Amino acid sequence: MTMLELATKSRSYRRFDESARVTEQTLRELIELARLAPTAGNAQPLRFRPVTEPEMCARVFATLGWAAALPDWPGPAQGERPAAYVVVLCDLDCGSGKRPDAAIAAQTMLLGAVERGLGGCMLGSVRREELLAALGLDPARYAVELVVALGRPVEDVRLTGLPADGSTRYWRDAQGVHYVPKRSLDDLIV
Ligand SMILES: Cc1cc2nc3c(=O)[nH]c(=O)nc-3n(C[C@H](O)[C@H](O)[C@H](O)COP(=O)(O)O)c2cc1C
Repeated sequence: MTMLELATKSRSYRRFDESARVTEQTLRELIELARLAPTAGNAQPLRFRPVTEPEMCARVFATLGWAAALPDWPGPAQGERPAAYVVVLCDLDCGSGKRPDAAIAAQTMLLGAVERGLGGCMLGSVRREELLAALGLDPARYAVELVVALGRPVEDVRLTGLPADGSTRYWRDAQGVHYVPKRSLDDLIV
């Protein structure tokens, strides 16, 4: 895959074949990619918690908010939920929460997931205290930055241009195809 193909295929996927489990080894490979990512001042405050075990996946899932632009969709149903997660944390002994670092790490892992035939979504909508408690992590030491949900996608996600009204809201058609409007290259260049 060229970089353009990889970036095009690397959409936010929110529906998965939940029975296609993702191994801890795969998550370690993705975290290894994140380890190599840029970090402000080379401070490296991020820590990562891989989650693959179904019962723990269910506890992580319960803390997440899905697709704010689709208020009538309650999120992925049983059977199509993520098969694994990487919780991206900030070690507060090492930094005070560096959101850009976390998003760079998350995207690096998501690109690696697509390279492996997987896919996922980074989520900032997280009930953080509840998640730290579920993971048994000390809130005085760790802050949840983002959660990366992963699995084998079963949804058709397509890029499209912006509609006439200029809305950037993503949407789904009657068949459940998920459309993501992106501004054109010319519209981005100032
Ligand atoms: C920092 C960040 C936080 C996000 N948080 C959520 C979230 O909480 N829930 C969700 O369903 N999607 C979340 N997304 C995914 C965006 O909705 C998605 O990137 C956007 O709709 C564009 O789709 P695309 O990723 O396929 O290009 C987040 C994306 C980013 C970059």
